[in-house]
Amino acid sequence: MERKLEALQEEALEKIASARDLAELEQLQVEFLGKNGKVTGVLRGMGRLDPEERPKVGKKANQVKEIIEKELEARLQILKADQEKQRLQEEAIDITLPGKPLQGGRIHPMQLIIEQLEDMFLRMGFSIEEGPDVETDYYNFEALNIPENHPARDMQDTFYVEGGLLLRTHTSPVQVRTMEKQTPPIRMITSGKCYRVDELDATHSPVFHQLEGLVIDRGITFSHLKGVLIAVTREIFGAGREVRFRPSYFPFTEPSAEVDVSCFKCQGQGCSLCSRTGWLEILGAGMVNPRVLEMSGIDAERFTGFAFGMGLDRMAMYKYEIEDIRHLWDNDLRFLKQF
Ligand code: PHE
Repeated sequence: MERKLEALQEEALEKIASARDLAELEQLQVEFLGKNGKVTGVLRGMGRLDPEERPKVGKKANQVKEIIEKELEARLQILKADQEKQRLQEEAIDITLPGKPLQGGRIHPMQLIIEQLEDMFLRMGFSIEEGPDVETDYYNFEALNIPENHPARDMQDTFYVEGGLLLRTHTSPVQVRTMEKQTPPIRMITSGKCYRVDELDATHSPVFHQLEGLVIDRGITFSHLKGVLIAVTREIFGAGREVRFRPSYFPFTEPSAEVDVSCFKCQGQGCSLCSRTGWLEILGAGMVNPRVLEMSGIDAERFTGFAFGMGLDRMAMYKYEIEDIRHLWDNDLRFLKQF
């Protein structure tokens, strides 16, 4: 009996030592120590032994049982540690591997121009105002002294919306809205989308951007306008740019001018960017028509002002040498990534 137990012990220890995983260990535990296990079987058969043999065999059986239990436990710890080690190895992260490249966003060239101009005007003490894209006839035309029969009101130019509303054809209505809200001195800019019925091609878009400026105070003269516009052009196109004023006409300014900046690419010599003229046309401007001041409740006897409106799409196209206005709308990443 005792030898049998010793043989069982040996068998058990051998098997435990070569068990490769927890499931196998569990099986061994059942095989030897379970309810119907081999060691348990011996203990159960003790009833048939001589009474004086019983304590000896019982003691031996308990020893064997304890040894097997201890071995099982020891092996269990080893296997668990191995398992943990393996898991850590499998989950190990190689921090020397290159990461996935992130797709960084860029600021749209139109937004770049707007932000650059806004920064400059804020430094000069201007406020930034906003107005709606859907306007009334009054703000877009009437209050700007654009009479009923003016060609700008032609159905061909203006997108009309239901209810007598329209899509603003320029940012000038924000001048009017600001004059109604504020009292002089006024120094404001506003920028945003404008809409005109137009075929889309390389240089025209039915939706475009303008930046508008308005200054009203006592004693404002054309030379103030000139100073501000020179600052603008040098900010965007670099130091030393010349500015040229050509007489023009806008119903809401008098006198009015069309303003060109000397071509930054050829230094005014003439190149493809400036169509060989040496000049880039960038904005319309003038002294605010006293009628416009009066309509918005500003005393034209005491106050004078100037206003200007520039085409931002054109500015961006010049500055970044974009040859097709549609690039500004296509959202082609190959284009946008260049800014
Ligand atoms: N609103 C004019 C346009 O769209 C530009 C302009 C603004 C001219 C302010 C003079 C003064 O053409």
